[in-house]
Amino acid sequence: LKVAEYRILAIGDIVGAESTDRVCRAVGRLRNEYRADLVIANGENAARGNGLDRVTAESLLSSGIDVLTSGNHIWQKHGMQDYIDGNRFVLRPANYPSGTPGKGFVVYDSCGIRVLVMNVLGTVFMEPLACPFEAVEKMLAENAGEYCISFLDIHAEATSEKLALAYYFDGRISAVCGTHTHVQTSDARVLPGGTGYITDLGMCGAENSVLGVKKECVIERLRTHMPVRFENPEGEATFLEGALYTCDTATGKALSVEAIRCRI
Ligand code: FE2
Repeated sequence: LKVAEYRILAIGDIVGAESTDRVCRAVGRLRNEYRADLVIANGENAARGNGLDRVTAESLLSSGIDVLTSGNHIWQKHGMQDYIDGNRFVLRPANYPSGTPGKGFVVYDSCGIRVLVMNVLGTVFMEPLACPFEAVEKMLAENAGEYCISFLDIHAEATSEKLALAYYFDGRISAVCGTHTHVQTSDARVLPGGTGYITDLGMCGAENSVLGVKKECVIERLRTHMPVRFENPEGEATFLEGALYTCDTATGKALSVEAIRCRI
């Protein structure tokens, strides 16, 4: 019996306007290359400076990314609060207080397969938002019976928090990734219960940079402790980092997960 496989390409934090342009140009090719059924990217730093704006979100979504997840920088740009209410394919972390614009999940329908895509913010070394464990539990309960495959982006600083969340939901979510640190981890694997997992996808940004920011700016900030304007490098070799999950549509569990890094 042939297993029906569903493939999710998850792309790490896109950093800055130039990386956004490069991702837009590359995503169609990557989609084919990896035979991805669904492409998800974290877009919270995709606009110039950081944050996400309407134009940037629209260009990423029209280039072949199906859902944008986000994190702590989602409200940075003016107008995002209105925009996110009108576009269900741009998520904000689910554990913001009730009444916050936008949603922390969407059920994406592709080729008859319904995928629950969720986004949550970690609380260790970050804003003291509501418990991410409870927020994910609530989204799973609210959407029970409405999806076949599920995906969770945990936007968090602490590797321990991401791992703990992944183990807590092991076997109940098809694919879990961490984002936010912009450094890809080497622990992509299927957990014992069947959840595909990686602690951090990494980023789409300049190779010779500090987390996508001009290295000189970050060095100066750390040496002088004075305010320094962060800029993104221009015209430099750029990495796209992420992971490819293959899921079994019969069981909703992951069959494999592999980390991806390529030049774009
Ligand atoms: Fe972040």
